[in-house]
Amino acid sequence: MHHKNKSLIFLLVGLAILVLGAVVLAGCAKAPRRAPQPTVAAAPHAQGLTPEAKACIDCHAKETPGIVNDWDHSKHAQAGVTCLDCHETTPDSPMLLKDIKGHENVKASLSMLVPPSTCAKCHPNEVKQFDASGHHRAALQVENKDKMQALIHHHEGRDLEGLDGTTEETGCAQCHGKRIKVDEHGIPTADTYPAAGIGNIYPNGEVGNCTVCHTRHKFDIAEARKPDACATCHLGPDHPDIEIYQDTKHGQIYAAEGSTWKWDSPPGDWEPGDYRAPTCATCHMSGIGDLKPTHNVSERLYWNAWAPLSKPRNSDDPMSPLTGHAEQGRAEMKQVCLQCHSSAMVDDYFASADKGVELYNKAYFEPAKQMLDELKAKGLLKTDKWAPWDDEFQNLYYHLWHHAGRRARQGALMGAPDWAHWHGFFELQQMLDKMQDIYNYRMETGEIEKP
Ligand code: HEC
Ligand code: HEC
Ligand code: HEC
Ligand code: HEC
Ligand code: HEC
Ligand code: HEC
Ligand code: HEC
Ligand code: HEC
Repeated sequence: MHHKNKSLIFLLVGLAILVLGAVVLAGCAKAPRRAPQPTVAAAPHAQGLTPEAKACIDCHAKETPGIVNDWDHSKHAQAGVTCLDCHETTPDSPMLLKDIKGHENVKASLSMLVPPSTCAKCHPNEVKQFDASGHHRAALQVENKDKMQALIHHHEGRDLEGLDGTTEETGCAQCHGKRIKVDEHGIPTADTYPAAGIGNIYPNGEVGNCTVCHTRHKFDIAEARKPDACATCHLGPDHPDIEIYQDTKHGQIYAAEGSTWKWDSPPGDWEPGDYRAPTCATCHMSGIGDLKPTHNVSERLYWNAWAPLSKPRNSDDPMSPLTGHAEQGRAEMKQVCLQCHSSAMVDDYFASADKGVELYNKAYFEPAKQMLDELKAKGLLKTDKWAPWDDEFQNLYYHLWHHAGRRARQGALMGAPDWAHWHGFFELQQMLDKMQDIYNYRMETGEIEKP
């Protein structure tokens, strides 16, 4: 009896739970996709909003709460720089948004794309400096060079109609940038967007992407000062700069205690004491001591350490492989080091680093190039449809300067012994030996070896 009663109670409770569950589920199905958000809580840090600007925020707090939250935690929100300040454009803009669902009552002319000239209205110096840097040419030079287009479309894309640009979309463009096209609504097309690359080319011809180091919509100075900001692009076998950094005492100190440093001091006022060791930004961009901050990352360089043959920089043209001025660049870089090290140590350091570049130039690149030129003159390089990449000699030549050679030079210049040596000079030596064997065979037999 006692037992039976208990089962009955369980049965009733179970039924009640089932019914309740069904009611809740049915309610959910009818409820709006997202719970309505209180408009004040959506942007509690924003200052001085006009009713027009508030309308964007009210609605986007429901539609894209992540964007509004990021913006609300930015200096822009505190300074009353709103969605409209960046997304409003002229009615004749080639990027104008048209017939956007949700924008039926929006009167302003808007664009989804925000080119650097918009930032330049309030930050003219940063844009001018960026435009003078090697970052400016990142997409332009990929677009302009036949060899690179052949690599992307023919070799890697295998000439497959509709798929032949895939490696550019998923690879090159995400670091270098891309010429962005828009559809009839002003929305960027899938084959050109999203392009997270640094040198995007906008439909009005402007170049640059300010969101790669301080991401939208927070536009945070602290984020840009951390090495991670550069690491999305500056890594891997051909320019392992983040790996190089991690191989230095600076990188080790950053890993050990970087989370405790002060990252948000105003530009020109971020000094040793806020941090103990430099990051990529400290050496290449930030103000330190008497040195002014710059968005021109080519300014503090002596060599072009990515080129087949490294030479001292001596040009004001951002499209030139030699953009920058060697002596002035070196003097400025030394100014960075001298805030924490003595001139004796810094001079000694660069004496060895420069020897690394010269050894690469003389002992590895020049002999490799000479063999290449001689084989070419004798018609002993492959020239078929899949050349040069199906030719072992030309493949080695590419890996010599583009991979191992860059690792050796950048490892030496940034003080990373594993990259300078084991991934650098040691590999160079092995590659040159192999090239020498192939060269000898072709010169002796007068023919290209069969696999
Ligand atoms: C009544 C709601 C509403 C208002 C007001 C509104 N938007 Fe939108 N907005 C939307 C919706 C919905 C989308 C489309 C989102 C999507 O595709 O996921 C959108 C898209 C956008 C886009 C990207 C373009 C696209 O098609 O994806 C931008 C930029 C934008 N809005 C900016 C603004 C600005 C600036 C304002 C104020 C002038 C504003 N919005 C006002 C609802 C609104
Ligand atoms: C300081 C300038 C700035 C402000 C302020 C700003 N945006 Fe943007 N927004 C950008 C930039 C830059 C992009 C990237 C577009 C590009 O690639 O050109 C962007 C992209 C977008 C996109 C499309 C891309 C995506 O991630 O979906 C939406 C939607 C958008 N913004 C909405 C807003 C809204 C809503 C606000 C206000 C809460 C706002 N923006 C404030 C600069 C700004
Ligand atoms: C209407 C003027 C205006 C526009 C347009 C504008 N900004 Fe700003 N920006 C400001 C103001 C004001 C501040 C705050 C300065 C301060 O607090 O010292 C600021 C601060 C910043 C900061 C420093 C944030 C920090 O953490 O200290 C960055 C980075 C920045 N803006 C990037 C951009 C980029 C990139 C664009 C274009 C996509 C842009 N801004 C467009 C006015 C503008
Ligand atoms: C979104 C990708 C991306 C990010 C992020 C990025 N870079 Fe670059 N960087 C590039 C590309 C691509 C090039 C090569 C441009 C060219 O020569 O065409 C480059 C080139 C350079 C150069 C050589 C310039 C020259 O004149 O040869 C330096 C130095 C540099 N970057 C430093 C930095 C630093 C420091 C950071 C972080 C604060 C950074 N980059 C963030 C993509 C990026
Ligand atoms: C992971 C990001 C990334 C990808 C993907 C990438 N690059 Fe780069 N590229 C860089 C960086 C960073 C540099 C700068 C190297 C340096 O300064 O040492 C660079 C340098 C270059 C340079 C030499 C600089 C110059 O001005 O001539 C060329 C050319 C180049 N890349 C072309 C390409 C092409 C073409 C592709 C795709 C087939 C590609 N890259 C893919 C990041 C990338
Ligand atoms: C390669 C990475 C990188 C790119 C690309 C970049 N920035 Fe910056 N930005 C930084 C760093 C790092 C700082 C902090 C410099 C310092 O420590 O003084 C900064 C600081 C700023 C500041 C704050 C300076 C001030 O005086 O308040 C503004 C504004 C700014 N950037 C705007 C821009 C604009 C506009 C663009 C596009 C043309 C841009 N940035 C592109 C890395 C970058
Ligand atoms: C301690 C200062 C320091 C730090 C930290 C540092 N670099 Fe460098 N970097 C240098 C020096 C010095 C050179 C060589 C300059 C020259 O040509 O004399 C260099 C060269 C480079 C080059 C080669 C440019 C070319 O001509 O190909 C790139 C790219 C680069 N650095 C990116 C980075 C990135 C990304 C980080 C962070 C992951 C970083 N650096 C960290 C000092 C530094
Ligand atoms: C913000 C201060 C700071 C700056 C700027 C700085 N360094 Fe350092 N560096 C350090 C600290 C701290 C160490 C660790 C010292 C130790 O190992 O006892 C260090 C270590 C080194 C080491 C390892 C040497 C050793 O004996 O352990 C080299 C090499 C070096 N730095 C070179 C440079 C060069 C070159 C520059 C400029 C391009 C530079 N540093 C800029 C703080 C700095």
